[in-house]
Amino acid sequence: MFKTRFIAFGVVLFLLGGLGYVLAQDDVMVIFHKDVFKRCERPPVVFTHEKHVEVLGGDESCAKCHHVYDEKEHKLVYEEGEETGCADCHGPKDERMPDGTKRPSLMNAYHINCIKCHREFAKAGKKTGPYTCGECHKKENWKLVEKPGKVEE
Ligand code: HEC
Ligand code: HEC
Ligand code: HEC
Ligand code: HEC
Repeated sequence: MFKTRFIAFGVVLFLLGGLGYVLAQDDVMVIFHKDVFKRCERPPVVFTHEKHVEVLGGDESCAKCHHVYDEKEHKLVYEEGEETGCADCHGPKDERMPDGTKRPSLMNAYHINCIKCHREFAKAGKKTGPYTCGECHKKENWKLVEKPGKVEE
């Protein structure tokens, strides 16, 4: 099902040392929206989608990250099968919703979602993910994308 759509994110091949051994990790997503951020200041972020699903409870996990906005109830709800990219709804800036609440920018949407959970897990003493800038925005991740901002004259 959703696995096939990940091809759009690019399948990342990890070269393991000098062994010439190639491990295809088809669940690895490179999060990098230069269409939204234009001049990306930070390196892209590598996100292991399937590992997160596994660790966070399988089908129960989806709602921890995915939602749609219920226009009538004025609240976020999870709808199975309606999981789309965050950039479909979150843009370059925070925006005011008609009901007065705020829809965070794409950067804030990711930061709130990812970092909040990693901190909560850390607090609970559980195995967690990174919450410092350089651990997510790893310099070495630049090699996974074409760096923007260097337009040929
Ligand atoms: C848990 C992982 C995580 C951590 C920790 C994190 N970020 Fe991010 N950040 C992201 C993701 C994911 C994006 C979206 C990247 C994209 O789509 O290009 C992002 C986007 C950004 C962007 C907008 C895109 C760009 O490069 O201009 C900036 C700026 C940024 N982060 C700065 C920071 C800073 C500063 C910190 C530390 C205070 C930080 N981030 C910590 C995951 C993280
Ligand atoms: C820890 C957070 C997290 C969990 C849990 C999670 N996802 Fe995702 N998912 C993401 C992120 C982040 C993206 C990439 C969105 C982007 O680039 O804007 C994504 C992308 C997707 C996409 C591709 C969307 C598109 O249109 O490109 C699908 C489909 C999807 N997820 C389905 C699921 C399903 C089904 C589950 C539960 C079994 C799930 N996800 C659990 C964070 C999560
Ligand atoms: C169909 C549109 C849509 C998609 C897709 C979407 N969002 Fe949202 N999101 C919204 C709207 C609208 C709000 C503001 C809700 C409000 O004002 O009550 C919001 C609010 C948020 C918030 C702040 C509220 C909260 O729950 O803490 C976060 C964080 C967030 N989104 C993260 C994400 C992430 C991460 C993704 C992708 C995995 C994503 N969103 C995908 C529409 C969307
Ligand atoms: C609901 C909780 C939750 C959310 C949301 C979440 N994570 Fe995580 N993340 C975890 C946990 C738990 C681990 C530790 C997994 C393990 O190794 O057992 C982790 C591990 C990681 C790691 C370490 C390497 C790896 O994959 O094991 C990275 C990088 C990471 N997360 C990035 C992200 C990014 C980027 C986002 C937002 C798009 C995100 N996470 C959202 C819970 C979460």
